[in-house]
Amino acid sequence: MSDSVKENQKKRAANAAMETILPHLSPNTVLGIGTGSTTDYFIDELKNWKHLFDAAVASSNRSSDLLTSYDIKVINLNAAPLIDFYIDGADEINPDRVLIKGGGGALTREKIVAAASEQFICIADDSKRVGRLGSFPLPVEVLPMSRSLVARNLIELGGRPIWREAFETDNGNWILDVHDLFIEDPREIESKINDIPGVVANGIFAQQRADLVILGSNDGVTKF
Ligand code: A5P
Repeated sequence: MSDSVKENQKKRAANAAMETILPHLSPNTVLGIGTGSTTDYFIDELKNWKHLFDAAVASSNRSSDLLTSYDIKVINLNAAPLIDFYIDGADEINPDRVLIKGGGGALTREKIVAAASEQFICIADDSKRVGRLGSFPLPVEVLPMSRSLVARNLIELGGRPIWREAFETDNGNWILDVHDLFIEDPREIESKINDIPGVVANGIFAQQRADLVILGSNDGVTKF
């Protein structure tokens, strides 16, 4: 798929998400906003409707900066009431709306904001749809001092962790990208990885799976 086709699909998904939430916006609405190129398209559309809602909670410094640059009010999660909608992209999406996220390294805050939201709408281009998760290397955020320990444990789980060198998360931590992981039961693997001391969060979103997926295609959008 060419880059421009992919970009058009992302825009389609982002615009469809905006159409979906538009009737539900009110002066009290707080939105959760994810991170990544597809979310950037959503923010670009959202700026046209900023008079219809109160504020946004961002899952990364990058998205927070982008929202602020459009004069959209950004508030801290601790200051937010229940968030009505969380809109974010994904790196892989399975038929059960379980995701792999974290290609951009923002997975921990993304999971937190998703958990604080009533409805998680995942937007993506069609290439993100998979039958089984795991071709995309699974990002795992770790405390820096635990990197080797976590890596050894991930090898025991059958993965091949690679340190994302020269990258620090917004939380001051490091990322291991786990290749070749056989993810038959995403919820089980998500919990097993979370149990390794030093793991902050991993990119499997099974417990926080999407409530609605909107995939952009060449003809329009598919929702499931
Ligand atoms: C950020 O950490 C990720 O979870 C992104 O949501 C994911 O990588 C999708 O990004 P794109 O929209 O750029 O494909």
